[in-house]
Amino acid sequence: MKTVHKISFLTAFLILNTIIFAQNPLFIPPALTGTTFNLNVQSGITNFYSNNPTPTYGINGVLLSPTIIVNKGDIVTLNVNNNLNVSTTMHWHGLHVAPENDGGPHQSILAGTTWSPSFEILNNAGTFWYHPHGHGKTELHVGKGLAGMFIVHDLQELALGLPQTYGVDDIPLIVQTKAFDILNQVAIADHMDTAVFVNGTLNATFNLPAQVVRLRLLNGSSMRTFNFGFSNNMTFSQIATDGGLIAVSNSLTRLQLAPGERSEILVDLASLNGQTFDFMSYASEMTNGIFGSPSVGIAPDTLEMYNDNFLNGNDFKLMQISVVNATTNPINTIPSTLIPYTPFLESNATVNRKIVFDTITLLPGSVPNLSEGPFAFNAQTFNMDSINEIVQLNTTETWTLINKTHIAHPFHIHDIQFNILEKSGITPPITEQGWKDVVLVMPHDSVKFITKFTTFSDEMVPYMYHCHLLHHEDDGMMGAFLVLDSTAAITKVKGNEFDVVIYPNPTNESIFIKLNLKSSQNIQIDILDVMGKIIYSNKFKNINSEFSHTINTKDFAKGTYFVKINTDNGLELKKVIIE
Ligand code: C2O
Ligand code: CU
Ligand code: CU
Repeated sequence: MKTVHKISFLTAFLILNTIIFAQNPLFIPPALTGTTFNLNVQSGITNFYSNNPTPTYGINGVLLSPTIIVNKGDIVTLNVNNNLNVSTTMHWHGLHVAPENDGGPHQSILAGTTWSPSFEILNNAGTFWYHPHGHGKTELHVGKGLAGMFIVHDLQELALGLPQTYGVDDIPLIVQTKAFDILNQVAIADHMDTAVFVNGTLNATFNLPAQVVRLRLLNGSSMRTFNFGFSNNMTFSQIATDGGLIAVSNSLTRLQLAPGERSEILVDLASLNGQTFDFMSYASEMTNGIFGSPSVGIAPDTLEMYNDNFLNGNDFKLMQISVVNATTNPINTIPSTLIPYTPFLESNATVNRKIVFDTITLLPGSVPNLSEGPFAFNAQTFNMDSINEIVQLNTTETWTLINKTHIAHPFHIHDIQFNILEKSGITPPITEQGWKDVVLVMPHDSVKFITKFTTFSDEMVPYMYHCHLLHHEDDGMMGAFLVLDSTAAITKVKGNEFDVVIYPNPTNESIFIKLNLKSSQNIQIDILDVMGKIIYSNKFKNINSEFSHTINTKDFAKGTYFVKINTDNGLELKKVIIE
């Protein structure tokens, strides 16, 4: 129950609210279309509180990032110009891209430089987003304003006739709370995230036309989960999960999204012209243990200050909505059947992985706290130089996430979308039956998902999985995984013009390598371990036609290695096992 203390904060807020906070028209981030995107990451000043400027970050502006709108199958180039005086990265959250294009902590963009990944859009229509992912810097950079929506359209979506006129009947809603220090600087690792923003707008108001409108919901907060609903208690239709459209629309009055999660909903406003109501978070109804619910943690580990934050456990307004005249040619129907959903079959899974969420003792004698952390996966904190999991390309896997802590953590994995098989031991709620890349794992509970790692493999560059509570991620509640292609006998990395034979494999004494070259070549042979460390390297100059070489492997530890053969004409990679 609410303490007197908490009520006094709430009252103070309500007074402040009426005196200082004017209502502000909702900012709609500009849309960028086409196939080449110039993204200028810059710093600036935003006046959230009239005479107290706040230093912020934005792309092509001082706060937030433009909405990128693309079509499935497009080949896009994103020129990320880092005009900050610190390095950053840019991650395309939810997109299926090669690890070197993913924008994780390993693709650092130094101050004053440009990173230009180029890739094909392979995802189906959906709402994705992009944000920085620098090692230990994600919360600061996202909190200062770097977050944008990444919308993918496709032909199946088009055939459904859904609203898709950006800013008119298809509205991006990036919902975030932020904490500020006494100088009105964005604060991190701070539980007093009492300022509520939609698209960077405090106390937002927006006019929506009296017709069917699509709202794209993104929880871009560092910590807070929202339980979305409307003050007139109207029903709405959920049509998408993180990875895109679902099979049939779900008629709901509440929809909970944890940090990193997205959804799309359709609201039918046709009969509400002239009415005003609020878009809300009904946090009082959220299950305890979730940051934002009435209570988090178990004494003595309960989050310090948690009850002082008047948003926790209270229902609050996100934005005021006024319904105005319909547009010409409005959409007035909500399709019930959307996109066929074919989840992966558990019987096809050949690998089962387990990720245990727990606290970790980083310094001898320090006592970790089951609500505050520091947290880690499988007792290891993130390290830029290690690989935590190795996945084989085209393998179907189940991952079981076991949360041994007192608070809920939203688990996110890069590269793929997954299907939740079990949440708390049973089928997930209908709102989570679809393609997902974030799942909230409740305290002392578990989630099992299934996925398949397709298309991209790389023996050097890992993908990430992590908690999407940004300060947990920054603290090291993150792991790295490589996707390796070792089913193919030979990985053709670049189009090569030579034949290679490596044997025996498995071996224990030596590896014999034979190459058939079509022209004179320089050759370099490297042997790497599974962590990508080079343990043997040799160069050979001007080799004509046939070349053979034997490498003694008696001193190699047992395990899996990669033989990398680099010629002037191309690169080949082959897995060898030393027994
Ligand atoms: Cu939205 Cu790895 O992040
Ligand atoms: Cu991501
Ligand atoms: Cu966490």
